[in-house]
Amino acid sequence: MHGRRVINLLWVSALLIGGCGESTTSDVCASAPTFDRDIRPSLVEDKCINCHTTAKTGPERRGAPPDLNFDTYDTTLPNVDAFADAITSGRQPPPNLEPPLSTTAEERDLVSVWRQCGFPQ
Ligand code: HEC
Repeated sequence: MHGRRVINLLWVSALLIGGCGESTTSDVCASAPTFDRDIRPSLVEDKCINCHTTAKTGPERRGAPPDLNFDTYDTTLPNVDAFADAITSGRQPPPNLEPPLSTTAEERDLVSVWRQCGFPQ
């Protein structure tokens, strides 16, 4: 886990100084995170799909809006800006859930880099 954090921080630093040093956004994005490999399997699976899935209707969704489903890249894409904002701001998953569910700093960084790189599938 510690190693993964270092990698994510390098990604973010490289983006911040992109254009000034040897590392540019395009270098970072050459190995960009992707939805199918990096975002969907752990982050979305563990922390969003409990509510935001087409497999659930009515009260099972626990209030998640019916049109916001993150099952696949295709269902996420129409709302991808809201998806990324909700995670990077810490707005979602909703606070005060019991048991609590929140994203880690690593997950928020990962989504920031994914956005910077244009949301690769
Ligand atoms: C426990 C159920 C639950 C989980 C888990 C959950 N949400 Fe939600 N989500 C909601 C509810 C309820 C709303 C509507 C109320 C609100 O906006 O807070 C909502 C609204 C949203 C919205 C629209 C409002 C906004 O703030 O932009 C987005 C986007 C969103 N969720 C993304 C996510 C993402 C991404 C995850 C996973 C990291 C997630 N949600 C996890 C229940 C959930």
